[in-house]
Amino acid sequence: MTFILALHNLLRWAILILGVWTVFNAITGYFGKRDYTANDNRSNLFFMISCDVQLLVGLILYINNGWFSRLKDLGNNIKDPYLRFFTLEHLVLMLLAWVLVHIGRASVKKGATAAIKHKRMLVFFGLALVLILAAIPWPFRQAIARPLLRGFN
Ligand code: HEM
Repeated sequence: MTFILALHNLLRWAILILGVWTVFNAITGYFGKRDYTANDNRSNLFFMISCDVQLLVGLILYINNGWFSRLKDLGNNIKDPYLRFFTLEHLVLMLLAWVLVHIGRASVKKGATAAIKHKRMLVFFGLALVLILAAIPWPFRQAIARPLLRGFN
């Protein structure tokens, strides 16, 4: 599980880079009134794929590291900020972000004009990125702090 945890940690950076790239394309596309290009499509496709891989890796950690079985004693675990974060908050917020990314990708594809596609890109992927940023156990978040990188020291 050490390797899986280091992978989950590292994949966070791929997701953040791809998410920022997608939102950047959405903003420049919408406000610059440009066409919806292969680059726009590529950015949000890669963002979605990275979220899919992270979900899979996260589920492995969730089940193997005992977080799933902690749901049985949720009443007690919810009182502890650390246990509450990893059994509930991280899972729910990240799943929500994942759903937004998938709905976003489908609705961007259906958008009739470049402006509509860029607007949907901005709303769905922007919101997903905010949720992801909020649900990461950053080192400055005292009760739940985790390192910025793992396995390279
Ligand atoms: C965009 C999605 C996600 C991001 C960016 C993300 C990011 C992270 C980060 C940075 C950590 C700390 C890793 C470390 O300690 O080195 C972590 C821990 C964890 N994540 Fe995620 N995560 C995501 C989605 C998920 C999902 C969907 C699940 C569950 C299905 C999940 C389950 C977990 C678990 C269980 C841990 C704690 C592992 C342990 O120490 O036992 N994550 N996540």
